[in-house]
Amino acid sequence: MSEILIAFFSSTGNNRYIANRFAKELQCDIEEIKPRFDFHVYLFVASRYPWLYLGNNPLMHLPAGYRKVVLCGPIWMGSYLAPLRSFVINYGGDINQLYFVTCCGSSEENSKSKYGYESVFSELKNTSTNRSIQCYPLSMSLVVPDAQKDDNETIMKARLSDENFSGEMLNRFNEIKKRIASD
Ligand SMILES: Cc1cc2nc3c(=O)[nH]c(=O)nc-3n(C[C@H](O)[C@H](O)[C@H](O)COP(=O)(O)O)c2cc1C
Repeated sequence: MSEILIAFFSSTGNNRYIANRFAKELQCDIEEIKPRFDFHVYLFVASRYPWLYLGNNPLMHLPAGYRKVVLCGPIWMGSYLAPLRSFVINYGGDINQLYFVTCCGSSEENSKSKYGYESVFSELKNTSTNRSIQCYPLSMSLVVPDAQKDDNETIMKARLSDENFSGEMLNRFNEIKKRIASD
């Protein structure tokens, strides 16, 4: 068994792509988080109202068996998504070192806005019993052409692939990977 577990939730594939790359390049185990009720409307509502706990299906790899856990998942409407929250509620206390990597739409420039990743990072840190959490964004704005970096629709529709996973996106991914490997 490896010392790192990659756990991910992904709806349109970007976080799956990131998670698979981490697993391949760090040569570690990978686990897909599957919500018990995998309907967008449920997930939206449960993300907005955290008391409405929906939960996930049981995992094949239990986080307690690993020294480091990397959680990958998206942000929707500025919310800390229910499947990610459920994972942290259920297993956060068992994890020594937790990394949250979100492949999301918001960029550094709007990270503190209503739909930016900063509020999700704060919520995750404030609601988890795990005190050793590092959060990293990988914005999809890094893979769209310069002329479309302010076009939300283009960013939302962008999908990661071996063709566009390059440049600054690849540099940042490599920095995070190095950090995880060396901790
Ligand atoms: C309905 C919806 C709402 C979204 N809202 C946000 C948001 O508030 N902030 C953000 O940074 N990205 C937002 N995004 C962009 C996603 O986080 C981004 O496309 C992500 O890479 C999707 O991950 P996935 O392909 O693994 O599901 C949203 C995407 C969708 C489909």
